Amino acid sequence: MLDRAFSARRTQPHSLFDVPTSSAVSDVSPDAESADLLADESKTKKPHLYVLASNYMSRLGLVKSPCLCLSLCLLLSVFMLFSLMLNSRSFVCLSSYDPISRASFFGLDGLDSDFGSLGVPWCRSKQGKTVEWTSKDLVKGLEEFVPIYETRPIKNNMHGMGFDHSFGLWFIAQWLKPDIMIESGAFKGHSTWVMRQAMPDTPIISLTPRHPEKYLKKGPAYVDENCTYFAGKDFVDFGSVDWERVLKKHGISDFSNVLVFFDDHQNELKRLKQALKAGFNHLIFEDNYDTGTGDHYSLRQICDQFYIRGGGHSCFKDSDEARIRSKRKKFWEKAVDIDELCGPHEAWWGVRGEMRDNFNHNNTPISYGEHFQNSRFVESILDVYWELPPAAGPSLTHQTRYDPARAPTPIVEDGRYRMFKRLGLDRLERSVFNGYTQMVYLRISKPET
Ligand SMILES: C[S@@+](CC[C@H](N)C(=O)[O-])C[C@H]1O[C@@H](n2cnc3c(N)ncnc32)[C@H](O)[C@@H]1O
Repeated sequence: MLDRAFSARRTQPHSLFDVPTSSAVSDVSPDAESADLLADESKTKKPHLYVLASNYMSRLGLVKSPCLCLSLCLLLSVFMLFSLMLNSRSFVCLSSYDPISRASFFGLDGLDSDFGSLGVPWCRSKQGKTVEWTSKDLVKGLEEFVPIYETRPIKNNMHGMGFDHSFGLWFIAQWLKPDIMIESGAFKGHSTWVMRQAMPDTPIISLTPRHPEKYLKKGPAYVDENCTYFAGKDFVDFGSVDWERVLKKHGISDFSNVLVFFDDHQNELKRLKQALKAGFNHLIFEDNYDTGTGDHYSLRQICDQFYIRGGGHSCFKDSDEARIRSKRKKFWEKAVDIDELCGPHEAWWGVRGEMRDNFNHNNTPISYGEHFQNSRFVESILDVYWELPPAAGPSLTHQTRYDPARAPTPIVEDGRYRMFKRLGLDRLERSVFNGYTQMVYLRISKPET
């Protein structure tokens, strides 16, 4: 119940930040910050021409001549027209395909929402611990990572990670400095390359059914020299690996400093149990899908429970939530309305009452009771749950897929264009910002009782 005391707009529940996330940007160097602020304020405080003209008129109010009055009125109208055209961007640039400008034009808030009052679910950890890094570290990390990302060998990584999650993986890996990194699900090797950028000399183990070298025949792919591949005919699923034997070969007997990265679209509860059994502590799940979305059962879904603020849903068509969802669906491609959220017998948990697994190939209907027990289990082993914030707000990145109201506050918030530009984010193609799905970092340990 203590958790209900957290802020209405769920930014970071167990806030990783030493300062509120809404002030994420205030952690940058004072010079840059004040420059950004000045730029923003100058926009809002710039006096409109018609205000100046009307002030001038009122000062001339003593003038009695009707002719002079008429010509001044005419002048004022011309001023007002010009001012409107110069100052109203939505007036000039409104595009019916741009949800953000449409939203602001019609006075709808497409960026933030009443989900703030409803809340967005998250996972509670055992002791309420959080991560060490701050918003300032994330901003510094972005500055360092953008030029690295620009050198990536796989420019078009459709079906793989985009910018946000690449940054998250790189940031966490270089922060934790693990003794070895394990990845499950490599595709063409982009995530292997990201981990290599974070830790140039650390061994990697990659489990993936198709060897990334196979993709080299058709186009760019990445094969790492210091990586042991369990791929092709040597492929073994993460849950079937004898990790003690495999890691011993790399001289590792203490698993507490091993980082495991999952991007294999398997049921995350299954992966969590396997990782716990093997003795791993640091895990990253790439796709942490929101309830009602995605092709596998995720941490976000598991922790979506009535006792969490913003958790639990109603399939009642006249509810506030139904109204908000249908409104948001108009703006964001991946937003789900109540019809999509709810399956047979009003089952909303997981995806329409199913626990999805293996790219949506193995789906098991589960009862609410089972779903509830799953969350209790997860809470009993979680030391830290941290969702990566999106790199920047949608008015900056122009992403149109995920609903920002279902995600933590971005590292670079909407309206901070100068910071967005200073970090080099404006140089990246828009499409790289479209893949955000709440990547999550977990620290786990055996249940206390
Ligand atoms: C979304 S892609 C991974 C993208 C990659 N991490 C990247 O950054 O580009 C999912 C990958 O998981 C692989 N996969 C499927 N089943 C798997 C399993 N049981 N274990 C590990 N990988 C699996 C697929 O073959 C595919 O390469």
